[in-house]
Amino acid sequence: MADLSGKVAIITGAASGIGLAGVEVFVAAGAKVIAGDIQDEKGKALETRFGADTVRYIHCDVTDMEELEALMQSAVDAFGGLDILWNNAGHGGTPTGVEDLDLEGYDHTMNLLLKQVFAGTKFAIPHMKARGKGSVINTSSISAVCAGYAPITYSVAKKGVAHFSKLAAGELAKHQIRVNAILPGFIATSIFGATLGLPREQADQMAEMLSQVGGKMQPIGRVGRGNDIAEMAAFLASDAAGFITGGEFLVDGGMTVGPPHSWNEDASSPVLDALGIDAEQAEQMRLAMTSGAQS
Ligand SMILES: NC(=O)c1ccc[n+]([C@@H]2O[C@H](COP(=O)([O-])OP(=O)(O)OC[C@H]3O[C@@H](n4cnc5c(N)ncnc54)[C@H](O)[C@@H]3O)[C@@H](O)[C@H]2O)c1
Repeated sequence: MADLSGKVAIITGAASGIGLAGVEVFVAAGAKVIAGDIQDEKGKALETRFGADTVRYIHCDVTDMEELEALMQSAVDAFGGLDILWNNAGHGGTPTGVEDLDLEGYDHTMNLLLKQVFAGTKFAIPHMKARGKGSVINTSSISAVCAGYAPITYSVAKKGVAHFSKLAAGELAKHQIRVNAILPGFIATSIFGATLGLPREQADQMAEMLSQVGGKMQPIGRVGRGNDIAEMAAFLASDAAGFITGGEFLVDGGMTVGPPHSWNEDASSPVLDALGIDAEQAEQMRLAMTSGAQS
């Protein structure tokens, strides 16, 4: 486990999913955490769970620049400084394509996913310079490197997040501020239900359902959890990652190396499914082909 003892971290989108796992992992690693979100009830519950001397919840809509700047200051006020910023809050964004683009939805998606990352980092810099170093972690997505996993606006924003991380890493290296992006694969969280417009409670239930089936989506054969991303974030935040900056880190259970059926003959293939051929029949056909080729 990473060692974050003595460090102060801000995590946005901390009330649910990946951000919530981040709070749990960072606290276990010894950090004090400012949890920013707009789900106040869940956020306040974090203070009760961990104690306000370890986790402080701050209501922060990351698309509101005043609230975002105040979030950075709250780390100084509550815990004396800021060492780690994890720009993580998110939503699936507008589902519209280019031809039918919802322009308001476009602005909101970009503000939430990309402007947050620019502005959050900008507001954190003076506090990190005061500490002599810092670590910024940005949640991007596999949709930054592969088409077809998310709508175009979301995917372009996440590509922007990854590229921002590289460029900001170059600019901020002279201050010993490291900037890295994590590109999660499929992680069973409420984001899918929330993006469909379901009330949060139902979105949370959907996350649970997705966790039952999500193991089939990547070669590693199990579902992705918030913890998988949070552990990577904790490592990047720690001094053990002191030489790592400008990186893009896929944490996807192998999703981007190809679909499970490409690597595992026991995994169902969409083509065979469409033809009504089960795994046993497919194996018999393979054996017949092999013996045919050898004779
Ligand atoms: N779950 C996945 O498969 C997946 C894959 C790739 C990237 N991501 C990214 O991971 C990040 C976290 O998503 P998640 O899967 O944990 O979803 P989630 O819905 O469980 O958590 C997102 C959190 O962000 C908060 N949030 C939304 N809008 C906000 C705003 N304007 N201001 C402040 N907080 C706001 C929500 O209240 C919620 O607590 C997002 O940036 C998402 O795009 C998720």
